[in-house]
Order: sequence, then structure tokens, then C-alpha cells
Amino acid sequence: MTLKERCYPFAHMIRTGKEEGIYPYFRPVTRTWGPEVDVGDRHLIMVGSNDYLGLTHDPRVREAAIRSLSSYGTGPGGSRFLCGNMALHEVLEDRLAAFVGKKRAIVHTTGFSVNLGAIGCLLNSDDVILCDREDHYSIFEGCRSSRAKIVPFPHNDVEAASRKLAHAVQKHPDGVVILITEGVFSMSGDVAPLADFARLKKKYPNLWMYLDDAHGLGVMGPGGKGTAAHCGVTSQIDFIMGTFSKALASIGGFIASDDDDIIEYMKHNSKTLIFSAALPASNVATVLACLDVLEEEPERIQRLRDITRQVREGYRRIGLAVRESETPIIPIRIGPEEKAYVFAQELFENGVFALPAVFPAVPKGQAVIRTAYMSTHEQRHIDYVLETVDRLARKHRIRSVDLPESEAFLEPCDFAAAKSCGAQ
Ligand SMILES: Cc1ncc(COP(=O)(O)O)c(C=O)c1O
Repeated sequence: MTLKERCYPFAHMIRTGKEEGIYPYFRPVTRTWGPEVDVGDRHLIMVGSNDYLGLTHDPRVREAAIRSLSSYGTGPGGSRFLCGNMALHEVLEDRLAAFVGKKRAIVHTTGFSVNLGAIGCLLNSDDVILCDREDHYSIFEGCRSSRAKIVPFPHNDVEAASRKLAHAVQKHPDGVVILITEGVFSMSGDVAPLADFARLKKKYPNLWMYLDDAHGLGVMGPGGKGTAAHCGVTSQIDFIMGTFSKALASIGGFIASDDDDIIEYMKHNSKTLIFSAALPASNVATVLACLDVLEEEPERIQRLRDITRQVREGYRRIGLAVRESETPIIPIRIGPEEKAYVFAQELFENGVFALPAVFPAVPKGQAVIRTAYMSTHEQRHIDYVLETVDRLARKHRIRSVDLPESEAFLEPCDFAAAKSCGAQ
């Protein structure tokens, strides 16, 4: 098969979606105010962004980014290993480590490159990685690059993870065994039962725990310190990874740990750190300014939680199946992929920007519209979105009452673990 033949069926499918007017991705946003955006001549309410605290347009944050440009310029000039390491990176590392309750941290240029570089360099073919099936693609890429044995377990299923862990420990007595989970799952908004996972360490003290808290940082826990703090298990999580591309209004990522030796090893062996350019100063300064705002204005997080609660209640009133959680990611469950594309297109035509998540981001036939809310959404935004979703949900028959019983995933689930993290 030629390269052209390999690509043609896919390109054809995309072209058809565009011709039918239901292709939803890569929409060129021409202006953004945070909760409102322009796409060409359309003005829309954004309910798909990960800018959870609405800090991308905060004047203090923008000012900090601009100021750093005068001292450091626009680009880093190289990888951190060579000439791109700035004092500002190290200031941020100290600040992040303290923020998440760890001793040291290493900043990378994206969150994806943290997972790829860190997991890839820490583990090898003697080791076993237990992963939640719904972990982010970057985690799986890191696992693949490490060549360790990957053992997925069903989403948030502590029992299944525990069984697989017992087996792994028995079969690989000399290898490292690590459990990797997200704190807040990017598509479902579910919270991992971290306290239950951490409890596994009592029986298996050599188990390592790696938390990807991309969506929990700035959102969960006291002061937005993340899901480990929310669940009260910071000291039991060996690695806390986070990104700056969500609540921290920038791009970039970090990994934090209490172990100096492991940090030093990662710093010199993470390929994505060594062989990729450093995070530009303006991004670093943005994150530092966001951390200042978080400290000064904890009410932002409270406002986000209030909005989240209000929207969840609103979705329930409409009759949508909404899982128990307290995160600002609230998927609207649709089912068939085609229907999700049509639904997203009609949202768009009605002034609401939210995108479908389809396989492989979610299981086949279980497409959702991923809505996510921001602390800068105003009441008028929420009212308008709820009214629009209500109308379209009736039209497209996606309310619980309209769904066949066999679509179990659509049932509202009493996901106690999501609320309590399994904490006793
Ligand atoms: C759970 C999770 N981990 C890692 C990443 C990668 O982060 P970044 O966008 O900073 O590369 C994402 C991004 O979507 C994510 O959702």
C-alpha cells in the first residue's frame, strides 16, 4: 500500500464531514475574550475550554508575560540542557514543588512531553505499569516508549487494579511496579479514587504512584493545589505531574517528586527535556502570575465550583444523565458519533462552542459533547447555554428518558468514589 493509499480513506472521510457541514474540529477562532469567542463572523459562548479559572485574559497575568519578554526575549534559544535554561524556570520549579507539596519539580515545554519523557526514562522492560484505561494518550505514549509491560485496568476500578497489582508483583519481583492515573479525567470529569489507590501501598510498599493532574491543578483541593491535596494523599503519591495548558493559562508542564536522585536522573534523561527547546519566558512568567492570583483570590476557585454545581443541576433538570462529580468537565452523553457531530454543529449554529469527543478519546459508540466551565462565565452565559442544550436535547432525544436501557453508560451513576476519593 502506498502512503497516498494509506491516507486517502481518512482524508476522504474528513472531506465528506466538511461537505456535510458537520466536521467540528480545528475551528479557526479569530478573537477570544475567554468565555466568549469569535469564529469568523459568529460570536459564541465558549464551553469547551480548559481555561478553568479564566486567567488567560487576566490583566495581571498578561502584564507579567509582557514584562518577561523585555528581559528574556520571545524564544528560549535552545533546550534547557544547553543554553535555554533560565533563572525563571528554576523559580517556577521551586514554586510548583511547594504548591503541590513536593520537594522538587522539573518544568518541560508541554504536559505531553512530561509524560512522554518522564515515564519513558524512568521505566524499562523489567517493569510493569498499571494504567487506568481512560488515561490520557500522552501517558500511554510514555508507557510505550519505556518498553515496560502495560497493564490497563477498568476505569477507576480499585478492585481490578489491586488484582492486577498482586499478579504483577508476583510475576515481576525485581521490576518496578507503578500505578498511573489521572486525578480528574479529561473527558468524563471523573475524579480518581486516589485514597483507595494509595491504600494499596500498605500491602505493597514498593508500589509507585504517578498522578497526572492536568485537570485537577488549580481546580481541586484547598487553594487549587490539586487532586492529591483534595484526597489528602499528597505524601503517598510519588510523582505529581501537571500542565500549564489548563487552569494556569499558558502551555508547559512539570513533574514533582520528593526524591532528589530521581529528579536529577529525570532531568538528565528525559529525552523531551534534553532534545526539545525550553519553555519561553513569557509562558513561565504567566504561570508564576497565575499562582500569585490563585493565592490572592481563592474565591475564583469557589466561583468555579458554584458554576459547576449550577450547570450540573441544570443538566439534570433538563433530564440529561450526569455523573456525580464536582469538576468543571461535564460531558453531555450522546452515543453514536454521527449524532454527536450533528449535535455539536447545531450548538455552534446556536452560538455555543463545545466539541464532540469520539473514539479513541472515549469508547466506540459512546460519544459525548465535552462541556467545560470557567470561573469567568457569567449568569447570562450559563442561562443561555442551558436553554440551548435543553431545546436541542429534546429535539435530538438524548435525555435519559429517550435512551434505550441497554445504553448503560448513559445511566446516571452513583459514583461515590468520585466524590470522596475513597477517603475514610
Ligand atoms: C490528562 C492530560 N495529561 C496530559 C495532557 C497534555 O498536556 P499538554 O496540553 O500540556 O501537552 C493533557 C492535555 O490535554 C491531558 O488532558
